[in-house]
Amino acid sequence: MLAHLLHLQGVDSLVVEARSRQYVEERVRAGVLEQGTVDLLKESGVGERLEREGLTHHGVQLRFGHRTHRIDFKELANGRSVTIYPQNKVIADLFDARAAAKGQVFLEAADVSVHDFGVSDANGSGKPKIRFRTGGESHEITCDFIAGCDGFHGVCRPSIPEGALTVYDRIYPFGWLGILAEAPPSSEEIIYAYHERGFALLSMRSPELSRLYVQCAPDEDINEWPDERIWKELHARFATVENWTLTEGRIIQKGVTGMRSFVVEPMQYGNLFLAGDAAHIVPPTGAKGLNLAVSDIRVLAPAFAEFYKTGKRSLLESYSETCLRRVWKVQRFSWWMTSMLHLFNTDNAFDQRRQLAELDYVTSSRAASQTLAENYVGLPME
Ligand code: PHB
Repeated sequence: MLAHLLHLQGVDSLVVEARSRQYVEERVRAGVLEQGTVDLLKESGVGERLEREGLTHHGVQLRFGHRTHRIDFKELANGRSVTIYPQNKVIADLFDARAAAKGQVFLEAADVSVHDFGVSDANGSGKPKIRFRTGGESHEITCDFIAGCDGFHGVCRPSIPEGALTVYDRIYPFGWLGILAEAPPSSEEIIYAYHERGFALLSMRSPELSRLYVQCAPDEDINEWPDERIWKELHARFATVENWTLTEGRIIQKGVTGMRSFVVEPMQYGNLFLAGDAAHIVPPTGAKGLNLAVSDIRVLAPAFAEFYKTGKRSLLESYSETCLRRVWKVQRFSWWMTSMLHLFNTDNAFDQRRQLAELDYVTSSRAASQTLAENYVGLPME
């Protein structure tokens, strides 16, 4: 996305990607785009398939006490909405845009390392360098800046000298077991379910594909979850007195994800700028990870563009501070949704009563519903 936006501003870049195009296009990841993410994809000319295939949602549902409560975005979020459109399709659309613009993308890059980004280079001594191998060849790229958009496990953040960054994090005592099933979604909207057996989530990828999750142990062994056990657990956690059934289908993918909140400050060191999961992780409750990465890029692209147009570094210098204000608000929302909906401690009846009271409040107070709605569709981007 950064390379695409820079291209539109006439700034050259190249992308170094560890995986193959097929791998990133097939890997099931996020699926909920905030209004601002959708707007940016469309405005920047990569929204054609999104417009055709994206499923617009004007509300989200919370299920607890065997009943469903709807948060209405039309009424509570100024008509803003979210769109279901899978991350792997966003990536495919961006690959196409890069190819059409003859942008350089090095795929299946191994042994990637970043160098000389720490010098704030008044005398031109050390320009940043990226070294890697692809197709049996070694490359060294010299550049003005490196954008560390390489995820939580990428090489950029760990290359910053010890002590330069402060880490803030929290690990949750549970994970999500997720499946993709060939079943039409049992609900037109996403359902977040609070249940005494643990949290469950109903989402989708298309009118034919359901995406479902159950809260599990952080180190849950997927081999202990044959398909029948997964469906049984989903039926139990989504049980309702309403006239509703969960449609089953063939499970075509399953996996366990851990849950953590993580932020580093600042999101910059010299000429290396961290963006997305390289700088911060949110637990998936609230569907913010991809959207937060896009909002970083929305700040970083104009900052680079300003530098090349005017030679000024003012937007680059304020990049981290600008991003972190929004990052922390989104961290707060993701932590809050996670805390409200998951079972933390099976024998703490006080906590469970408190969570039920919070859900009751959130779905019955207009002020509280509005708080959820405005965060869910996405806080303003810079
Ligand atoms: C998903 O569709 O994968 C999804 C939806 C909502 C979430 C998290 C994940 O909060």
